[in-house]
Amino acid sequence: MAEAGTLHDAFIDELRDTYDAEKQLTKALPKLAKASSNSKLRQAFESHLEETQGQVERLEQVFESLGEKVRGKHCDGIAGIIEEGKSIMEEDFDDTTMDACLIAAGQRAEHYEMAAYGTLVAWAQAMGHAEAAKLLQQTLDEEKAADKKLSGLAEGGINQSAADAAHSEEDEEPEAAVAGGPRKSAAKSGRR
Ligand SMILES: [Fe+2]
Ligand SMILES: [Fe+2]
Repeated sequence: MAEAGTLHDAFIDELRDTYDAEKQLTKALPKLAKASSNSKLRQAFESHLEETQGQVERLEQVFESLGEKVRGKHCDGIAGIIEEGKSIMEEDFDDTTMDACLIAAGQRAEHYEMAAYGTLVAWAQAMGHAEAAKLLQQTLDEEKAADKKLSGLAEGGINQSAADAAHSEEDEEPEAAVAGGPRKSAAKSGRR
């Protein structure tokens, strides 16, 4: 009879899942960068791409520190998040709305990663894998910083300019819309 798996087995499994997730993100982040109109947003995705490449290598160090072979296992969770991001990029939004949506897509990925690394750090600590815990914590900190940067860009102007484009002068209030005649199909007043 096969022995029941331990937390260590689950830990290695989660590491493989996360390794694959990071690799998927190294392919997705350039697409988010390319779709960005705001230059600071594009730079944020580009610099997080560089960080993500470093995170892949850091996970390889984690496997080594545990005496495990470097191996990935398809991560369905991040694949779904990336798939949703792709559908957003196919939508016909004005530039600033697209930027707001790219931030939303990017933050979904960051939060998924924060959840994964939060668990990995806690499990590594609980099992006394100090080197792995230290490395994983470094990545967790980078994910949190990337998430914060995206929030800063959203709240620092991108959301508001998208909102201004959504509620342009002719359809601010229902009454105003009636008084102002038919709505224009796509409000572009917020475009740069
Ligand atoms: Fe990452
Ligand atoms: Fe990330």
